[in-house]
Amino acid sequence: MSNTSSDTTGDESLITTEVETGSTQRTPARTAVAARDLNVYYGDEQAIDDVTIEIPEKRVTALIGPSGCGKSTFLRCINRMNDMIEVCRVEGDVEFGGKNVYDDDVDPVALRRKIGMVFQKPNPFPKSIRDNVAYGLKIQGYDGDVDERVEESLKAAALYEEVKDQLDSSGLDLSGGQQQRLCIARAIAPDPEVVLMDEPTSALDPVAASKIEDLIDDLAEQYTVIIVTHNMQQAARISDRTAVFLTGGRLVEYDDTPKIFEDPEEQRVEDYITGKFG
Ligand SMILES: Nc1ncnc2c1ncn2[C@@H]1O[C@H](COP(=O)(O)OP(=O)(O)OP(=O)(O)O)[C@@H](O)[C@H]1O
Ligand SMILES: [Mg+2]
Repeated sequence: MSNTSSDTTGDESLITTEVETGSTQRTPARTAVAARDLNVYYGDEQAIDDVTIEIPEKRVTALIGPSGCGKSTFLRCINRMNDMIEVCRVEGDVEFGGKNVYDDDVDPVALRRKIGMVFQKPNPFPKSIRDNVAYGLKIQGYDGDVDERVEESLKAAALYEEVKDQLDSSGLDLSGGQQQRLCIARAIAPDPEVVLMDEPTSALDPVAASKIEDLIDDLAEQYTVIIVTHNMQQAARISDRTAVFLTGGRLVEYDDTPKIFEDPEEQRVEDYITGKFG
């Protein structure tokens, strides 16, 4: 299927991944988030079917698959955003920091501080740029220098230079691509460990999307990034690991990204990636 792959062994694709993502000499990754025997239902309808997966720390992991296969549902299990959906029922474990996030003593608000989220449609609050980024800090009673942290977060989100003279103007006055970077700054300001992104560039033009892609690459130096995307090229470009979900909420293949895109084990995965279905 691919003219970029030569006949190499599976071992070499790992090395390729490391090189392609631009990071040198990275240590082997520990697991940041793991799902074990995860099943999710909306009423009687099953959206995730017995998923077990270990997601590495400080890497970019892409979740791909056709519409309705459960990618967003899976993402929302990780920081318990599904708690907000009344008909949603979760069985199985999602481990983070050595603990099941569904244990009774886990505070979902505290969890979401550690596991931030960015959505498809940029959703800044109708507040100033500064207050958008400071929002999570204020909730957590941050005792450091808020302005300094706002600046750091805007820099990390590659937005600071564009907005540094207008921190008091509304976040809603920014362009779509700037708004999305503002949302990323807001997500990383409380210094989370994991950033979940659900199709973060699908509402953006290619230039803005490419800025976010560059940013994601940088973020993975410090954070674990888990990103849902419908854009195969994007998944291939920016992720280290790719998980392919197919209809019925099943995880059908999960491997190093080059392996998935050049030589997947499953015919169904190859068909999906090459556009034969989905
Ligand atoms: N709030 C909800 N209430 C009831 N059913 C839901 C809800 N959210 C999702 N579902 C159902 O769960 C299944 C998985 O949906 P989900 O949104 O996770 O898929 P997805 O892979 O993210 O799709 P897309 O690529 O279109 O965003 C679908 O059948 C969907 O109809
Ligand atoms: Mg979705």
